Amino acid sequence: MLARFLTRLIDGQAAWARPFGDFNHRWLLALFGPIRPVKDFLNGTWLGHPVHAAVTDVPIGLFTGVILLDLLNERAAADAVLVLGILAMVAAAVIGLADYTDTDGTARLRATVHGTLMVVTLLVYLLSLALRVGNPVDRTAPVIVSLLAYGLITAGAYVGGDVVYALGNMVSRHAFRGAGAKWLPVELPMPASELPEGTPTKAKLGVNNLVLVRMGTTIHALHEQCAHAGGPLSAGTIVDGCIQCPWHGSRFRLENGYLARGPAVYDQPAYEVRATEKGGLEARRRST
Ligand code: FES
Repeated sequence: MLARFLTRLIDGQAAWARPFGDFNHRWLLALFGPIRPVKDFLNGTWLGHPVHAAVTDVPIGLFTGVILLDLLNERAAADAVLVLGILAMVAAAVIGLADYTDTDGTARLRATVHGTLMVVTLLVYLLSLALRVGNPVDRTAPVIVSLLAYGLITAGAYVGGDVVYALGNMVSRHAFRGAGAKWLPVELPMPASELPEGTPTKAKLGVNNLVLVRMGTTIHALHEQCAHAGGPLSAGTIVDGCIQCPWHGSRFRLENGYLARGPAVYDQPAYEVRATEKGGLEARRRST
């Protein structure tokens, strides 16, 4: 299978991609740390969907148009669309940096290869644009350079897609979790009456792990695995009626699991909790 070869090729870049990715991680954290709402906006917290994945289609579509217009020898139109494609590519790159900031391990390695390929692609497109300046009679060179860049952007898009489809980066960790309207017994590490106030406590509900938080007479329950990248919410902290993930700081409202802060872009599964006659607890997933 071709994908196995390509995966080995991508991961074979670890010697430079790992240290380069770690370096990028540090400056991106320093950059976005003081402007977290901006990063949330770029991640897509406001949309409930990753923005980068949608925006990347724009430059690819425009660059496809450049090929067609070059073939038709529509010079002015090809050059104008090339400029738009370059601008769209810069926008997609800036948005992608927000997602890249929170990658770890193999996802960071492959995202580094993806980002590097895209920067090289951008430079090659800029070269094509420079070669078009003055509308030379013979446009063979800029057209060939554009085609080369299109090959590079295709390779870069493949690696970027791999980060999502093969590694699940920015994919909801609860994509395949069923709703399940049945009440099930909650397994707690202590009697329900001793559930501590305002402290995340891990519990089991069938095959799922939950995090329970008692606030006065109400017991809130969310799935324990963070929707962003699977962080353990039972190790999180309570802030303004939300639970904050210890890994990248996403916040989910205790009462309904709604996303309050990124980098997650999806809500967290929430559960209704009720007391049983024997002094235990039962829970079932809330409908969204
Ligand atoms: S795993 Fe990233 S914020 Fe929870």
